[in-house]
Amino acid sequence: MFSPIAEIHLDRLIRNYRKIQQHVGDAVVMPVVKANGYGHGAIPVAKSLQQEGVKFFAVFTFDEAVELRENGIDGDILIFCRMTTDILSSAVDLNITLNIAHKDDIAYLTEFSHKTGKCPKVHLKVDTGMTRLGVDFEKLYGLLGKIITINGINLEGIYTHFATSDEGDPAYTELQIQRFNEVVTMSKKLNLPIKYYHIANSGGVLNHPNSYFNMVRVGMLMYGAYPSDETTECIKVEPVMNFKGPIVLMRRVKAGTPVSYGSVYAPERDANIGVIQTGFADGFPRNWYKHGYVGYRGKEYKIAGRVCMDQFMVNFESDMPKIGDEVLFFGDNGENRIRIEDVALDVDLTTYVLMTAIGGRTKRVYVNE
Ligand SMILES: Cc1ncc(COP(=O)(O)O)c(C=O)c1O
Repeated sequence: MFSPIAEIHLDRLIRNYRKIQQHVGDAVVMPVVKANGYGHGAIPVAKSLQQEGVKFFAVFTFDEAVELRENGIDGDILIFCRMTTDILSSAVDLNITLNIAHKDDIAYLTEFSHKTGKCPKVHLKVDTGMTRLGVDFEKLYGLLGKIITINGINLEGIYTHFATSDEGDPAYTELQIQRFNEVVTMSKKLNLPIKYYHIANSGGVLNHPNSYFNMVRVGMLMYGAYPSDETTECIKVEPVMNFKGPIVLMRRVKAGTPVSYGSVYAPERDANIGVIQTGFADGFPRNWYKHGYVGYRGKEYKIAGRVCMDQFMVNFESDMPKIGDEVLFFGDNGENRIRIEDVALDVDLTTYVLMTAIGGRTKRVYVNE
């Protein structure tokens, strides 16, 4: 049976992780495995990181954390989303770490801990400039005071999130780091028993060595891609995923024959046109057809016409590949290397959007070379 394939190289993931850990020195690396491990499969990714000795993971939702727990991940799991009162009890039972993102969350935790005598572990999220979740850093002093006077809040960490760490201009990120440093100083003055301070994401790790504190939360870089074309590539990572699809039919067409919807493409010379069974419903970036290509046996061949929901066509010129052979969309298979970063730039999306879109009928196949 034909289908698109996301071939996940767990050995590359581990090598990337090791390089990042080596680069950030004593800071703990907390791998971010939300959104199904950025499309790589959260459970196999987390399991292989756990085998490597990783003890902290981050996801977005409570359900994502529960799924990891139920599949044998026993390290700490921090969830990034806003807490709700219905998860507090299970968070205690499953040892899932929540975050305080608003002053009301302190009230929820206080009430819960007074009622039950228990409290889940929490990290306090401070908004230093992203203007998303998090307590406004200017109002923090009062809140921190409140936390120390309320018995039972189990505050293990304080963190914030960068808005522009993967951009060339460092000014706004440096302002966020400066604000976070003030937060750290404040919490130390109040003698809060905080174990972890964290702010850096992949962009921070690559562009801002002063942002590591004692923990970094890394997603994209660990999956082997750079967050943008404005970060350094000071850590050389390998793409963890090879995204590819099968050639299911070849046909010979005359020069000028229109190919695919809208008839916007026609080969200039007589050509062998291949049909690839992968479409935008599987996460193939539709707009890539304008300048895009696929890799096959060391050569690159142009995408012929618009990408359809389930399939698209490729101009193999005078070459005649075998039915059932696969073409590479992005990744590195030894014969071809197509950078997801280049595709993202061309279609005006980010590597994050492209990776997390992969799905539909795509089969994930795990390789541990
Ligand atoms: C709060 C938070 N921290 C860390 C990350 C990891 O970011 P990156 O994939 O750029 O390393 C994310 C991802 O979006 C995030 O939302």
